[in-house]
Amino acid sequence: MSGASGSSDIPAIGVLVSGRGSNLQAIFNAIERGELRARVAVVISSRADAPALRIAADHGSTCHVIAPRDYPSRAEAGATIVDVLRAAHVRVVALAGYKPILDACVVRAFPNAIINIHPSLLPAFAGGMAPRPQAEALAAGVKLTGCTVHFVTEEVDAGPIIAQSAVPVLDDDDVETLSARILVEEHRLLPLAIGLALSGRLTVEGQRVRLAPA
Ligand code: GAR
Repeated sequence: MSGASGSSDIPAIGVLVSGRGSNLQAIFNAIERGELRARVAVVISSRADAPALRIAADHGSTCHVIAPRDYPSRAEAGATIVDVLRAAHVRVVALAGYKPILDACVVRAFPNAIINIHPSLLPAFAGGMAPRPQAEALAAGVKLTGCTVHFVTEEVDAGPIIAQSAVPVLDDDDVETLSARILVEEHRLLPLAIGLALSGRLTVEGQRVRLAPA
């Protein structure tokens, strides 16, 4: 019920996934706990075998597989994504472990309405897909890393930052233990950012995102 698509005054969101789907699950959990007033109207996966699709189906969300390699060009895959998101009347789109680089036509269709979660404190360790940013943080020897939620622009991982959460890097960390510590924060931060984006309280001025008082 909470995640199902359908007509209602609860704002519709779309979620794009490629893999495990723990952030998608966190969105459903936040909705079910009453912490996020939204419904997941549509889930789009770039892979037919993504475990996230099972999570979406279990929550009654409409699912689409749009694999860029099935399209003659990234732009055509992008145009299909835009059509699906528009048909679902989404107000906000979350990239929750979505691997392909979104075509510019998608970014332009939803200005300041697409949110990405990235497992580093951007602008550090931008550009890669998990677990690369976590591995790069370990290799760089930083003592703090974390996760970032930001609006998606045409430049990868460079859009205005909505929120960040830092975690310590411990001496005996490996990629797995560090990723797990960051993931706890991801699961808190992504639903929070979606709620803020839906609230209309965020304004974007250049690279800065300001939050108006409630
Ligand atoms: C998450 O750690 C997310 O931050 C990362 O992929 C993982 C997806 O996990 N995203 C990126 O690296 C984007 N560049 P999930 O499928 O369990 O949500």
